[in-house]
Amino acid sequence: MARPRRTIKLQIERYNPDVDPAPHDEVYEVESDPSDRVLDLLNRIKWFQDGTLTYRRSCGHGICGSDAMRINGQNRLACKTLVKNLGERVTVQPLIGLKVIKDLVVDQRPFFDHYDEIMPYLINDERPPATERLQTPEERARYDDTTKCILCAACTAACPPFWANGRFIGPAAIVNAHRFVFDSRDRATSERLAILNRRFGVWGCRVVFNCTDACPRGIKVTDAIEQCKRAILSESV
Ligand code: SF4
Ligand code: FES
Repeated sequence: MARPRRTIKLQIERYNPDVDPAPHDEVYEVESDPSDRVLDLLNRIKWFQDGTLTYRRSCGHGICGSDAMRINGQNRLACKTLVKNLGERVTVQPLIGLKVIKDLVVDQRPFFDHYDEIMPYLINDERPPATERLQTPEERARYDDTTKCILCAACTAACPPFWANGRFIGPAAIVNAHRFVFDSRDRATSERLAILNRRFGVWGCRVVFNCTDACPRGIKVTDAIEQCKRAILSESV
């Protein structure tokens, strides 16, 4: 039997730094179909109840990484979180550790600054072959998991060491370093490992596993971080 529509109370943390002295909660009642995601409810509120509600979204299908937020206290993508799996009262808050620009929109600049630090592109100045640079399936498999990152920031914004000190490079940057460190075609392994070995680099990780829990792509984030630590210690990949 099909599940009936439910009325959901969505408690959203609102904050407009231009006018509000502090963040506050607002509660909206929204009708929800069994197939609705949290993003559908946010859209319904914005389009039909309160056009001032502000959040990021683009693809709506877990690809662009725009709509990471705290849903019932856990970092999740709004477009991938089914309302039917949540209670009848759902809390929605911005990510922690990044400055709130408005409502659920945080300033992603510090997050992308850390991403830029690890040189997130293939570096190989050797003369290219006539066709593509080849690698074996086994070589490709070494970094397959970390190619899945969509840069949503859910991991870094779930990381207590990052909350404590925003200079910590954070799990997402390490995941993206891993993607190139373990790529047999790349030639900047030493430089990237040296960046990860710096103060506020990979050693800031306290192995809390929040990042792995938060990742909407199911990337084994903590495992990738540990592999980078071992590569630094052994000076080989
Ligand atoms: Fe998002 Fe996962 Fe990439 Fe972190 S590792 S930015 S949680 S996709
Ligand atoms: Fe693109 Fe959710 S809107 S990942």
